[in-house]
Amino acid sequence: MESVEEYHTARALLEWQVELGATEAIGDMPVDRYGVPEKSAPLKAVVAPVVEDEVDPVGVAKAAAARAGSLAALRTALEAFELCEMKKGARQLVFCDGVAGARVMIIGEAPGRDEDREGRPFVGRAGQLLDRMLAAIDLSREASVYITNVMPWRPPQNRDPSKEEVAIMLPFLERHVALADPDFIVLMGNIACDAVLGRRGITRMRGTWVEAWGKPVLPMFHPAYLLRQAGAKREAWVDLLSLKAKLK
Ligand code: URA
Repeated sequence: MESVEEYHTARALLEWQVELGATEAIGDMPVDRYGVPEKSAPLKAVVAPVVEDEVDPVGVAKAAAARAGSLAALRTALEAFELCEMKKGARQLVFCDGVAGARVMIIGEAPGRDEDREGRPFVGRAGQLLDRMLAAIDLSREASVYITNVMPWRPPQNRDPSKEEVAIMLPFLERHVALADPDFIVLMGNIACDAVLGRRGITRMRGTWVEAWGKPVLPMFHPAYLLRQAGAKREAWVDLLSLKAKLK
């Protein structure tokens, strides 16, 4: 190792691979599989190549979600769903927390490291802030709120999910909302707004009630953003009071 910096970079990369589930090192040097020559020249194809039926992940997701007649069945359907790349790097499915059937449903973005470990949404620092925000208006995940995310698996390196990944998982989210059947939905941050409302711009959108899937929806700043921008807590408080007023 040539420098302390390189040592720390290599160590961080190794820790990341271990976190993704790598359990053994199979060589000292990486192998460039694209550069390895074929042992023998491939036989020329003498028959027409078989064209495999293309799988439409959104169509498969829609059919699987529609078949789920309960939240438990939806969880099982997600556990069996193999057409979202994110699942491969995640430890486990993060489906929901809180009270099924609660009047308020919170939709976040995607699990982070803590959620991936525990299998429950919003359990890390942002989740702890969310709990304090809810408590300020006499709500809690133990008694009165149901929580899920747009993406049920942790994205690698916590990157934003792509539009395609969101489109694949959206039928499950829509079914999730239909089965949980809340009176009010709170969308936390831009990714949730983009997925559910097809729009970003949380600074402009927050605090204004809109409708999605026939339900009143309130976009709010994501708690992770509030951890970085404490000044925005004032607006978050206004939005919480607006939710509290709706619940009266
Ligand atoms: N951020 C989210 O949007 N969801 C979680 O579950 C955790 C952090």
